[in-house]
Amino acid sequence: MALQSMGMSKIQELYDACDWNFSSGKEGLPTLKQIRWLQGLLDAMEPADVGIDATRTDERLMEDEPIPKSQYGLFLAQSVTQVTYIHIHECDDFSIGVFCFPAGATFPLHDHPNMVVLSKVLYGSVQLKSYDWVTTPNSRPKKSGLARIAADDRVMEAPCKASVLFPRSGGNIHSFTAITPCAVLDILAPPYSDERERPSTYFNEIPIPSLPGCAILEETDLPEDFTVVGAPYVGPELTVEMEDYY
Ligand SMILES: [Fe+2]
Repeated sequence: MALQSMGMSKIQELYDACDWNFSSGKEGLPTLKQIRWLQGLLDAMEPADVGIDATRTDERLMEDEPIPKSQYGLFLAQSVTQVTYIHIHECDDFSIGVFCFPAGATFPLHDHPNMVVLSKVLYGSVQLKSYDWVTTPNSRPKKSGLARIAADDRVMEAPCKASVLFPRSGGNIHSFTAITPCAVLDILAPPYSDERERPSTYFNEIPIPSLPGCAILEETDLPEDFTVVGAPYVGPELTVEMEDYY
């Protein structure tokens, strides 16, 4: 497969690179070179590359339009009033999607069991807090225990570099709080799956005054006041491998 060609959209390049790096049969974690490749592609991405107009609100909202769209058909993401997920692609090996946040919204502390996650802030400013479990080399993903802080309320403001987390490092358990309206493009490899023992778990954090930089995390229910709504992807058309499509 030609991974790059004249006129190929950035989202197509990103999909092709994910398919190449994460497709079934590739064992273990991606190499540093593969991660750098994906980060480079993400670094170049802007809201319009995934069908988002981040410059305006819905002053031109059309009658009977279920989602706020610009006159050019782009999603007016700054109009969202709750956390909104734009699903772009999901297969057994990876998913690509965008979370749009209104100012002040929080995505509660959650984990990414046995996953690599690449994230790119497309617009706006978001505060990140993240942890990694304090583990022994062979321990399995945990539901509670001692964790060390990986990022302590780090502010990420577009334009900025893409970040990456790994199963045991890089801040595998994280929360986001939107300082301004913002959007985060996420690649999850592999995606969440209850059947494959990769559920999404939410956590409370209990500080340990005597152990700065660490906290006890304990599993909790998804907060009742937290919901994510869906919005259709209206960006450049994506051509996917047929076995990937569902
Ligand atoms: Fe996450």
